[in-house]
Amino acid sequence: MSDASDLDLSGRHLLLALSGGVACFKAAELARELGRAGATVQVVMSEAACRFITPLTMQALTGRPVVASQWEASEPNAMPHINLTRGADAMVIVPASADLIAKLAQGRADEIVSLTALARPIGGARPCPLLVAPAMNREMWAHPATQRNVRQIVADGATLLGPAAGEQACGEVGDGRMLEAVELRDAIVAFFQPKVLAGRRVLVTAGPTFEAIDPVRGITNLSSGKMGFAIARAAAEAGAAVTLVAGPVHLPTPAGVRRIDVVSAQQMHDAVLPAAAQHDLFVATAAVADWRPAEVAGQKLKKDGSGRAPALAFTENPDILAAVARLPAGQRPYCVGFAAESHDLVAHARAKRERKGVPLIVGNIGPATFGRDDNTLVLVDAQGERPLGPASKLVLARALVAEFGARLAGSQT
Ligand code: C5P
Repeated sequence: MSDASDLDLSGRHLLLALSGGVACFKAAELARELGRAGATVQVVMSEAACRFITPLTMQALTGRPVVASQWEASEPNAMPHINLTRGADAMVIVPASADLIAKLAQGRADEIVSLTALARPIGGARPCPLLVAPAMNREMWAHPATQRNVRQIVADGATLLGPAAGEQACGEVGDGRMLEAVELRDAIVAFFQPKVLAGRRVLVTAGPTFEAIDPVRGITNLSSGKMGFAIARAAAEAGAAVTLVAGPVHLPTPAGVRRIDVVSAQQMHDAVLPAAAQHDLFVATAAVADWRPAEVAGQKLKKDGSGRAPALAFTENPDILAAVARLPAGQRPYCVGFAAESHDLVAHARAKRERKGVPLIVGNIGPATFGRDDNTLVLVDAQGERPLGPASKLVLARALVAEFGARLAGSQT
């Protein structure tokens, strides 16, 4: 999802550990993605991993010699298993085989990857968290022994990345397939985000709506949905359970987000209203059409040769944000609206805040941001206004999520 130019891992030092499995080829791409995102990457490989991909490949991709044995003597103290995790921001095992997970669960240390994991600091001033991306056949994954081992390593503090379901190298289909390199990169980026919305439930609307005129035509707008999708992603990264109600857009669903696709404003309203009371925060980024054709023609409206356009009558759509903001206290989430204007941004945002009865409006200049990856915002609340940006939509979304977290925590409601 994210653009590598975001440099989300700038300043991070990651220990990328490979155990044996066909999915080793994805570790090569991951090493490159992590480097592009700004991380320095040190690779350590088990003997089994070296049967699937060469240390030379991983060295070339990371610019650092690979440690492939616990007997490595090139370092002055001859203790690579100790040195590797000191100063690392995380140890990421990609792929983690069933055998390696069993070793982690038991605290075994008979080869370099499990040995290094066991020797890493788990407390103190500089702990080295463990992230594990399982990769194995579905029967191996489903086996009670593996599930027992996975529960154990999670109880011991490991964070699981995946696995996903899908087609496997063996030809079978099911759980145990390792996440793709970019999914792993995004999961690692998410791991490092502050959990300012942990335990919170967040509802987001995003994208345009499409109001049908006839079976082939309709009224819509230029909203790309990118800002709302970035907010949904940032909220999920911050630990929230996120529901995203999306109008017609072609954007991938952010990891861990529950998505409900809708087309019209009425459908968006009908998806949002019953769900709102189960959420702590409602962020309305959707560009909802104000009007819809009063009647949808059953057949395509045809030219009749008279030169006259058909007269369309319009009905006003329900205001979703205002309706949520009118819910009784106790059922009403904290409401945030967006204002996309072409001029007089602050004055319009201020008026919108009053009209809709919401505590916070985020304003932006619509034509300057539609479809783009960056944006400039202004936050308007009862206290006044504050500019945010310019920055990428993801960077802005993370800043907004930090702001929402603070407001939900009661410091600025
Ligand atoms: O009234 P206007 O469309 O300018 O207000 C924008 C804000 O209100 C956005 O947060 C938008 O998502 C929300 N809105 C809504 N339902 C509508 C119209 C706007 O939720 N029918």
